[in-house]
Amino acid sequence: MTTRKRVLSGMRPTGPLHLGNYHGALANWVEMQDAYDCFFFIADWHALTSDYENTGRISDYVKSMMIDWLSAGLTPDKCTMFVQSHIKEHAELFLLLSMITPVPWLERNPTYKDQIVQMESKDLSTFGFLGYPVLQAADIIIYKADAVPVGVDQVPHVEITREIARRFNYFYGNIFPEPDAILTQTPKVLGIDRRKMSKSYNNAIFLSDPPEEVAKKVSRMITDPNRARKSDPGDPDICNVFSFHQIYSDPEKVRRIDVQCRAAEIGCVDCKKIMAESLVNAMAPMRDRRIYYEKRPGEVADIIIAGGEKARQEARKTMEEVRMALKI
Ligand code: TRP
Ligand code: SF4
Repeated sequence: MTTRKRVLSGMRPTGPLHLGNYHGALANWVEMQDAYDCFFFIADWHALTSDYENTGRISDYVKSMMIDWLSAGLTPDKCTMFVQSHIKEHAELFLLLSMITPVPWLERNPTYKDQIVQMESKDLSTFGFLGYPVLQAADIIIYKADAVPVGVDQVPHVEITREIARRFNYFYGNIFPEPDAILTQTPKVLGIDRRKMSKSYNNAIFLSDPPEEVAKKVSRMITDPNRARKSDPGDPDICNVFSFHQIYSDPEKVRRIDVQCRAAEIGCVDCKKIMAESLVNAMAPMRDRRIYYEKRPGEVADIIIAGGEKARQEARKTMEEVRMALKI
């Protein structure tokens, strides 16, 4: 029997994953597979909370997200991967939890308030969007997760999850552990225009970009904005290309570039070429796994089915306890 702590996390399938997503979440997940009993799921119902008008692309995004995950190094040998909508028990628990969740808990959720303002082009005044953290709570506690790796913006959701679990336990008996949020470090890379890397800013390097595309994007990257000419000394500390070097190039090279840049002994064009090479090398294992799985859609489908079966078994067990506790 396993005594490893259970970890659960999810991602909304809203498009291809980029290096920001990798360093902000996926890389941590890949590491956690070895130490924890991990459940990772694609939150397709959550994608509906903001994209309910255009649902056509969600199922393609689900498939491509699974390939992104597998190429990043998640493996069904070590973790359970599944799709939220395949496990209808999430919806049942969501319904039951919604009965005991006070609306003010949802209304004062800072992520809720932020997103309403940020996504003003969308009408988010729906019941589903307000209740999103209740669905998230169901996702988490149905597997009795001990810990949930998330970014800062999701911490309030884990906090609401703890409150809902506590309230449930108070009413109906001790069934759910209160999960801890594990804060994943913020992504270490910016987009090629120095803003936060984001699909919607058109500044992202995707895990699926082939080497030529990576090199092209790197060549367009904004460097030290104060360095106009090659003869001007540069400042690596404010250069995003240098941040990439620090992650992907070997330390000896990084030290050399640091010195040469400050002395105007290396130009940005050459510096980027070196960085692109390091980055392409670092992405090569991902690329190989992607090519493997893209050729084998049946294998990917089987991974999703098998993960779903494992998850469903756990979810069913919990729901039996829940129905018993509620006497329904
Ligand atoms: N809300 C999360 C996000 O937008 C995705 C998510 C849904 C999730 N359910 C979850 C994350 C459960 C952790 C645990 O990123
Ligand atoms: Fe950045 Fe490299 Fe140009 Fe220096 S030489 S500013 S580190 S790209």
